Amino acid sequence: MLAYRFGLDEVMTKLTILRDEFKYARSYNPIEHVSSRLKSPDSILQKAHRKGIPLTLEDIKAQMFDIAGVRVTCAFQSDIHRIRDLLVGQQDLTLLAERDYITQPKPNGYKSLHLIVQVPVFMSDRVEPVTVEIQIRTIAMDFWASLEHKIYYKYGKEIPASLLAELKDAADVADALDVKMEHLHNAVLAIKGSTGADASADMQGLIPSQDLLEAFLRSRGPEQAPDVDGPDAG
Ligand code: GTP
Ligand code: MG
Repeated sequence: MLAYRFGLDEVMTKLTILRDEFKYARSYNPIEHVSSRLKSPDSILQKAHRKGIPLTLEDIKAQMFDIAGVRVTCAFQSDIHRIRDLLVGQQDLTLLAERDYITQPKPNGYKSLHLIVQVPVFMSDRVEPVTVEIQIRTIAMDFWASLEHKIYYKYGKEIPASLLAELKDAADVADALDVKMEHLHNAVLAIKGSTGADASADMQGLIPSQDLLEAFLRSRGPEQAPDVDGPDAG
């Protein structure tokens, strides 16, 4: 469990570095939130039982990939693959498996990108490769998954078809929200890009054209036009 905790620390450090670099050195931060958890020994035993994994350290290590788990919440869908590429491109991180529940959501509507990675943990007498599951999703996907988990976790029985359909509807709404917000984000970036050119003109000390100035004054209406002589004049 200690090795898994160190593996978790290694991945968390990588994400903290990325997040802080984006925050302090770039204009946009794609990482909203990062959290981690270690599976409890109880849950490990339950899962081994459920999946028919023999109860030996070797078998559990080789067949259970989510003992150490990290969850990254991104702002927009396009950020998910950006973060994925930034992690997978790191030399000391090996991608063992990838499950893309975004292009292929689960039947209930669950969406996320899952990476199973391995990171080396340097101990005093050996290097231990540790497996970590990384889930990357948007805020909307996380909202849906967290509430779905709350509603159905350990429900045990089969969920009625009508409720499943409603759950899938809710996932579609979350997805529509993601698409809309990303569209707005891109639209604002485009506007910023075009006003960026104006900003550079400002920095060169260029004065807005007379036409623009007059249009601006007209738009304020006659009562708000600058009153050069003061209210009591004339
Ligand atoms: P688990 O035994 O649940 O770990 O599943 P698995 O090892 O077969 O892998 P899978 O890719 O199905 O799921 C891994 C993890 O993704 C889960 O432990 C959950 O954290 C999350 N997950 C997968 N499916 C769902 C879902 O339908 N709803 C929610 N809320 N989370 C899900
Ligand atoms: Mg799991």
